[in-house]
Amino acid sequence: MKLPVIIVNFKTYVEGTGKEAERLAKICEKVAHDTGKNIVLAVEEVDLNRISSLVDIPVFSEHMDPIHPGAHTGHNLPQALKDNGAEGTLLNHSEDRFRIDMLKESVKIAKELDLVTVVCANDSDTAEAVAAFEPDMIAVEPPELIGGDISVSTAKPEVITDTIEKVKKVANVSVLCGAGVKTGEDVKKAIELGADGILIASGVVKAEDPEKVLRELAEAL
Ligand code: G3P
Repeated sequence: MKLPVIIVNFKTYVEGTGKEAERLAKICEKVAHDTGKNIVLAVEEVDLNRISSLVDIPVFSEHMDPIHPGAHTGHNLPQALKDNGAEGTLLNHSEDRFRIDMLKESVKIAKELDLVTVVCANDSDTAEAVAAFEPDMIAVEPPELIGGDISVSTAKPEVITDTIEKVKKVANVSVLCGAGVKTGEDVKKAIELGADGILIASGVVKAEDPEKVLRELAEAL
């Protein structure tokens, strides 16, 4: 996975679902091409196939279940995500918390399938704990700042620096940050603090002009 990176999480926003997800994905692809920066999309499992067939930038799943083929009604089979175009997956997002044993197993299965893993953590202690599973990346996001207008890099810079320090003592895992990121200045600060990139949702997905915003973020990366 090329770093630094901006991962745009489409969540289940109407602007990031179905046909609208296609529109947004094309915008992200255009900005990635124009700026030469690494932009990854995280989309709902049901949109993986349509989005990964549409764009040539990496597409991740927002969720994966730690299961093998078999009787698991309603679950998302890792191999099926891969077969539908996922190059990686978010795990343990604040809005999709995993039990710790399930998280460990998820990282293990994803690695077996060569899926890139981005494990979310709500603070530096959690990040330190999950670093032991050696995911590809850990994204630290203070839950109270998610969806807001104040960036983690402004409101809680120590969360980023503490996380990097603690994680690197455990394993060589890349650290991203997210929550409230809205401007190029927010991205610049995050990178200056040592982050390998950002995880962002509302700032791009719900923006009036997503292309303009994403271009500013990418140029600051
Ligand atoms: O996954 C990214 C996310 O939780 C941050 O959300 O809307 O604050 O960029 P947002």
